[in-house]
Amino acid sequence: MRIHDGSPGARILAFGEYQPAKVVTNDDLAGLVDTSDEWIRSRVGIASRRLAAPDETVADMAVAAAGKALAASGLPAGDIDLVIVATCTPETLIPNTAAVVATRLGIAAPGAYDLNAACAGFCYALAAASDAVRAGSARHVLVIGAEKLSQWVDWTDRSTCIIFADGAGAAVVGPAGAGEAGIGPVVWGSDGGMADKIYIKDRDSFIVQDGQAVFRWATTALHPVAARACEEAGVEPGELAAFVPHQANLRIIEALARRLGAPQAKVATDIVTAGNTSSASIPLALARMTGRGELASGDKALLIGFGAGVCYAAQVITIP
Ligand code: UT7
Repeated sequence: MRIHDGSPGARILAFGEYQPAKVVTNDDLAGLVDTSDEWIRSRVGIASRRLAAPDETVADMAVAAAGKALAASGLPAGDIDLVIVATCTPETLIPNTAAVVATRLGIAAPGAYDLNAACAGFCYALAAASDAVRAGSARHVLVIGAEKLSQWVDWTDRSTCIIFADGAGAAVVGPAGAGEAGIGPVVWGSDGGMADKIYIKDRDSFIVQDGQAVFRWATTALHPVAARACEEAGVEPGELAAFVPHQANLRIIEALARRLGAPQAKVATDIVTAGNTSSASIPLALARMTGRGELASGDKALLIGFGAGVCYAAQVITIP
């Protein structure tokens, strides 16, 4: 039996992002539920978020973000041989989102699957893409995080409707040259004992979250995971140019950043204008930070995704 030769390392070649046009402010939400701009800004850190149009699908947003990533990578569509869509809000259970997105992008017959690790989805998918490139089962992988959470939110529930939002982010992953490692080892895990802390029970249900329990977990259990991802990558926190955690709550982001001990690292605060877009939040933040010139090629960034499951994953990447 033969096995494929892969690449010793994998790296990100380009990012892309998409945000829907509709901006929803905290004052808009205060017209729907008993809340205020002051409460949302001080407790969650969100000033506004984007919501998809009623007829705009997860696949539409994924195509928009991935199309930009593909164009920025300079690769022809035919060079992509695997498409992974991280989403917990797919339009349909079958077919999966990835195959549809691939066809719409003109990618002929790639491997294509959806991956659900909720808000950790992008980091899980990035790890799977990196491993596929390293093992030789794919050469170039399109990794997408895309969510339409607005479809699963109870717009009369003030504890959730002020948090969640829609959008997509994408990265093209390919082989790294000898001695070059653009995606560090993943440190990941889960705890099904906390399955009842964030869930959508069935297709006719809304998202339910025990906010305080998730907040406590995120601010007490995850900083060692972030530290281990740095250790595994052989990168000191002091060498990080950026820290890009899942954009769930500005207070969680700041608590994790304080514990990281990397005062020089730029901390992603995309939540302020993007809200919590689950598996889209990390690639969206990365694409927007690089687009604004806040991150330079070669910079090291630490990612950590966490959420329902509960599932979490962290890795260090090199900015393309
Ligand atoms: O992305 C997946 C991972 N998810 C997370 O990481 C989310 C983690 N949790 C959180 O971000 C926060 O727990 C929330 C933002 C969800 C809630 O913030 P909190 O500071 O934990 O609020 P709380 O649930 O403890 O509620 C405090 C008070 C309550 O009122 P009483 O009982 O003290 O009178 C709530 O009813 O705030 C009230 N409240 C609100 N008030 C105004 C809850 N939601 C709102 C609201 N506006 N939207």
